[in-house]
Amino acid sequence: MKPPPNIAWIGDAATGHLRLLDQTRLPAEETYLECTTVQDVWDAIKRLSVRGAPAIAIAAAYGVVIAAQDGPEAVPAACDHLASARPTAVNVFGALDRLRASQPHTPDALLAEAVAIHDEDRAACLAIGEHGVRFIEALSEDRRGVLTHCNAGALATGGVGTATAPMYLAQQRGLNFNVFADETRPLLQGSRLTAFELAAAGIDTTLICDDMAAHVMQRGLVGLVITGADRIARNGDTANKIGTYNLAVLAKHHGIPFLIAAPTTTFDLDCPSGADIPIEQRDAVEITNGFGKPTAPTHAQLPDLGTYNPAFDVTPAELITAIITDRGVVDPVDEPTIARRLA
Ligand code: MRU
Repeated sequence: MKPPPNIAWIGDAATGHLRLLDQTRLPAEETYLECTTVQDVWDAIKRLSVRGAPAIAIAAAYGVVIAAQDGPEAVPAACDHLASARPTAVNVFGALDRLRASQPHTPDALLAEAVAIHDEDRAACLAIGEHGVRFIEALSEDRRGVLTHCNAGALATGGVGTATAPMYLAQQRGLNFNVFADETRPLLQGSRLTAFELAAAGIDTTLICDDMAAHVMQRGLVGLVITGADRIARNGDTANKIGTYNLAVLAKHHGIPFLIAAPTTTFDLDCPSGADIPIEQRDAVEITNGFGKPTAPTHAQLPDLGTYNPAFDVTPAELITAIITDRGVVDPVDEPTIARRLA
């Protein structure tokens, strides 16, 4: 069983539209959103129907094609609007810059550019797999577990994922390994998406709650942590789903390599360090009323109860063993090595 296709352009450039798998409904339902306006695409990004840094970029690129169907004058405003949906993942800004710069602003030309962005991401995922599989090959016999967080898989990209790319390749090569998927509070991308995606692909996958990661590490069940990234600063500090930093600290304590897997489109060389990465704050309802069930005192019960819901955290470069990119592995994780790898 393969996960359903997450992003597809339907029809021709002049009259077609964007079809998105609604990831908020997974794994219970496989439903699709038919996006025919720029606002439809913006809404899908905002509410995480399409999510994951590369997938957001690809969806936004197709959103610009929809704008161009109203004439070239609609394109710059559409790019600005789509860029405002979510602030942390940098890939979307790079994709929108490419569409702004691409000429002419006709549906045909912009669709070609959007398809190129989609295809390049698919290729980047495969390359990340090739560069990253050696870390799974190197796992010792008694510690075959690879722990991952959030969903940096096929659902989050145009291809086989970033953190998952080495796993899919390891599976193809018949390597003996298993995956621990963190459930990833508050929106459960790990349990709803990663566990679904990997187990459906036949990879030996065990779902754990986020607060079980220390325990499985202490028990010697984890030999490697691999997560994705939403933005990597010039010095290697990396923003990813909230809870990633916890894992890096735990991995260091337990002497476990902590890897980030990301395409070069996730690096932001204009961003000096993690302190400069904007962190998206999301609605409190995600932590007080997740999936429609009250999980905290209501406002009526305790009006003074505060909430804090940052969607991402920043892992400092010194906690990252290596970054697997489509252009090879960044190791050590520092500014000169990143600059050389991306040159
Ligand atoms: O809020 P989300 O679900 O968009 O967060 C996604 C992540 O943090 C992923 O790990 C990251 O975008 C990498 S996806 C290849």
